[in-house]
Amino acid sequence: MRVRSRRGLGALTVAVALAATAAAPVAAQQQTVPEAVPVPEAVTTAQEMVVTANPLATRAGEQVLRNGGTAADAAVAAQTVLGLVEPQSSGLGGGAFVVWHDGASGEITTYDGREKAPLAATEDRFAGLSFTDAWQSGLSAGVPGTPALMEEIHTRHGALPWQRLFAPGLRLALGGYEMTDRTAALVDSYLANNDSCSDRLFFRDPVAFEYYTNGSETDCAAKPGGTRMRNPDYADTLKTLRDEGAEGFYTGQLAEAVVEAVQGDPHLPGDMTLEDLADYEVAERSPVCSDYRGHEVCGMGPPSSGALAVGQMLGILEHFDLGDDPLDPDAVHLFAQAGRLAFADRNLYVGDADFVTVPAEGMLDPDYLAERAGLITDEDMGTAEPGIPPGEFDPTAPQTESNESGTSHVSVVDRYGNALSMTTTVESGFGNGVMVDGGGFLLNNELTDFSFAAADAEGTPIANRVQPGKRPRSSMSPTIVRDAEGSLELVTGSPGGSRIIGYTAQSIVNVIDFGLDPQQAINVPHVQNNNGSTALEPPIPGVTLDYDVAALRAALEARGHPVTVTEQASGLSVIQVTSEGLVGGADYRRDGSIGGR
Ligand code: GLY
Repeated sequence: MRVRSRRGLGALTVAVALAATAAAPVAAQQQTVPEAVPVPEAVTTAQEMVVTANPLATRAGEQVLRNGGTAADAAVAAQTVLGLVEPQSSGLGGGAFVVWHDGASGEITTYDGREKAPLAATEDRFAGLSFTDAWQSGLSAGVPGTPALMEEIHTRHGALPWQRLFAPGLRLALGGYEMTDRTAALVDSYLANNDSCSDRLFFRDPVAFEYYTNGSETDCAAKPGGTRMRNPDYADTLKTLRDEGAEGFYTGQLAEAVVEAVQGDPHLPGDMTLEDLADYEVAERSPVCSDYRGHEVCGMGPPSSGALAVGQMLGILEHFDLGDDPLDPDAVHLFAQAGRLAFADRNLYVGDADFVTVPAEGMLDPDYLAERAGLITDEDMGTAEPGIPPGEFDPTAPQTESNESGTSHVSVVDRYGNALSMTTTVESGFGNGVMVDGGGFLLNNELTDFSFAAADAEGTPIANRVQPGKRPRSSMSPTIVRDAEGSLELVTGSPGGSRIIGYTAQSIVNVIDFGLDPQQAINVPHVQNNNGSTALEPPIPGVTLDYDVAALRAALEARGHPVTVTEQASGLSVIQVTSEGLVGGADYRRDGSIGGR
């Protein structure tokens, strides 16, 4: 592996006080803060690469690639490890989307392994409940999709025997791994909401409580980071999957344990049944692709709002020259306005397209986006109203709340020229907080991604309302970018709730418009507007570029932006294909890690 630096970072020096890197020109360093802290640099490999949010998961994917596995094989192995070592973000009890670029055929395929509402679910499922009450309950658990998705992508695109993909996860579950500081801190932050060790809403489930905490009525602090953790129940689940395939998860003893965990929830029982599990199917959906300055940007369509919102933002931004500095007030203003416009449409139109008519094509229609771009002036537009895209759609009311968070992203390119972009989730931290007894994995709370209200005050239904068997709207934006000839250029995606859309769009703009390499693109502090305030990320020494956040804030406020300065929980995993090899960037706001050769 060798570190590679593309375009000099000097392009950013106007408004950005850069941290010194080997690649930063002397003139740039002279303008920076006196004691600049180096920021991470990109990694380049010759033929294969995997980027995840955890070094153990990256290593698992790397081993599989080295053994001749495809990107799909590597993603399966990485997912089995992520569910163990980063359980707050994704796992077997959750759901995921995969965008696949096939090296041989050049085709893009998308796979929807999103959780589903049980057949017994009704529109008033969350009526009168606070988000926390809904989240920490059996009602929020959707029928998991991740095990079926793993099997589907392996069947369609795998090269190694299925059984071999479980070796790294099994070794870690039985031999042990170290709990990360990040996991421990998150457990502690949730425990702090409880009245006492015995009176608990968070980690109310005794299995999860015992696994993640000191587990007594007098000492229920989180096990500290670095604790050696073993999870033999998780190993048993992996063995079942390995030996019986996904059917071993969706039927039989494991399915019974899932149903028992949902229906026996100590706070609010849910209604998932064995039939719901046995009926679960991955959906192959048409990719949603849009053009951005001559590049084809492809991602996941409904039930995800990801590709539509990212595509709208880019289609609007295409009408402007963004200059050469991603943190210049002009560029940030434009990015924020594009975010406002995209979120206005997203909140009105997007739900599971198996249940509501989403005007997907119209939302990305170039003339429509030109019209939307025409609404942007030098001043902040304030709350954007949704537009009326061409095409059919159901009359719906906007969803006002937006509760998504958590999640993890995996990007892989293999030696065969395939690429995979997978965003995977249990929704909020540790999903609904219940660990399946004997299963060693957590259940999701994905159904809180539905609108809690079924209709607005006039009774107009909300596209993303709860319906039986429906998949909740997502913001997950696994994305693959190709050139005009269909050659692979970029694999990107991130966790971060509804901010996923902005993080992903920003990574693409940073590479395409500002010429940054993937790591430099990730190192740029985040800016975004989801049709509320314009959020600026404060600089993080050694992780992001340094910059004068107060000056940017003042410049935006002068244009009428309401501005917040907030920490951001992105977890971008980005791979760029260049003539010099695969160039990778990981997000060190989390435990990001790059592997390959
Ligand atoms: N739960 C995160 C998302 O689907 O957007």
